[in-house]
Amino acid sequence: MNMDRRSFLINAGVSGAALTLSVSTSAAGQVNAFSNQPNVWSIVRSQFDQLSREHIHLSSFFLVSHPRPVRDAIETHRRAIDENPFDYIEKNMFEMPGRIQKAAAEYLGGSPNEVAVTNSTTMGLAFVYHGLPLKAGQEILTTAHDHFVHHESIRLAAERAGAVVKKIALYDDLVRVSETEIAERIRKAIGPKTRAVGVTWVHSSTGLKLPVRAIADVIMTANKGRADADRVLLIVDGVHGFGVEDESVASLGADFFIAGTHKWIFGPRGTGIVWAPAENWKMLKQFFPAFAEGPFVAWLSDTKSSAPMQAAWMTQGGFHAFEYEWAMPAAFEFHKTIGRTKIAERIHFLNDVCKDGLAEMRHVRLHTPKGNRLSSGLVAFEIDGVKSGDVVKKLHENKVIASQAPYREGYVRLAPSLVNTPAELETTLRHIRSLA
Ligand SMILES: Cc1ncc(COP(=O)(O)O)c(C=O)c1O
Repeated sequence: MNMDRRSFLINAGVSGAALTLSVSTSAAGQVNAFSNQPNVWSIVRSQFDQLSREHIHLSSFFLVSHPRPVRDAIETHRRAIDENPFDYIEKNMFEMPGRIQKAAAEYLGGSPNEVAVTNSTTMGLAFVYHGLPLKAGQEILTTAHDHFVHHESIRLAAERAGAVVKKIALYDDLVRVSETEIAERIRKAIGPKTRAVGVTWVHSSTGLKLPVRAIADVIMTANKGRADADRVLLIVDGVHGFGVEDESVASLGADFFIAGTHKWIFGPRGTGIVWAPAENWKMLKQFFPAFAEGPFVAWLSDTKSSAPMQAAWMTQGGFHAFEYEWAMPAAFEFHKTIGRTKIAERIHFLNDVCKDGLAEMRHVRLHTPKGNRLSSGLVAFEIDGVKSGDVVKKLHENKVIASQAPYREGYVRLAPSLVNTPAELETTLRHIRSLA
């Protein structure tokens, strides 16, 4: 094992057999010692040791390539399950969810009992919207910019409850868009029947990052004088900010925050979380059986649990790929080891290089706001006279993995992330320049 890898693993607390089930307690001093190394980004890249070196990966936000500590954690659990499924699962299945909640809560700034463990953003969105205590005639306000699975969760939940869906655009022009304009549009669209506002922290269509705090403030004002049962709830699909931005999720002002952890967090594929303040869990209706103690004990005595709904009950339940779910703490530990401020700075720096380079090209129309106030880790653009699908193909021929956004506008997307270098971005920009 080379020394860089060894020191990384030691700092991450996940070396070999020592992995077991514990959430690492790496000291802050160790973390700083690691994250201040000059070659920190090449060490980080070396943890993604199965990610091909042949390509420039600018679509890592799509689905993770497991970094070494996460893959090792999955493998440790897998081996133990394969050796003795009954003993290993029975020993750990009621304990592990708590460990995952603790690791996620520490990362996002909340409490373990505020975190639900899911298998994706999609599952979290569906659970939250279907669990809302919606009344017929109440309205869910959303925007024209959210992902298909968000809009579908809203549509299906509204249909079931007899609620109404209202969709608004948050801007006319991405070049001139401002935080005030976005918050104002939401303020004006909230009416007496609005019960929930569903937004996306970072749009995967354009890379626009919403001012969630400002939206939460608008909603707080709208809620003055409303009864608890009519309070407007802010629901945030946070998947493309979670693992990028340095802000603590628990202080964004969301009532429900939903994210997959298999994109920017680098968690195991097929994992995600929902965070909500402890009080908010009580209002949700459970509609899916969870392997959790409260409901199980109640069932044994043929009663209904008198305890209010809680985060721990909103899980996928059933027997599933436990080795993946139980490896989630290794991903949060990986972020902690690098340092979230450093991660945010690096991703913003790489995205600025990309945006500044694109903005100088006359044949390119950049759709992502420049700077970091209204953008995050995604850059969207078009090339005059070339279809976006063809741009993606051409880049691919040059070993650059870009993507086309699965939205009506279908822009080309680049997502510079921790696995990239400024040199890779220069190469990518050169290829784009040559498409003039
Ligand atoms: C904004 C947004 N929300 C939700 C999803 C779906 O995420 P998941 O695969 O975690 O369900 C995506 C997909 O990338 C997305 O871009």
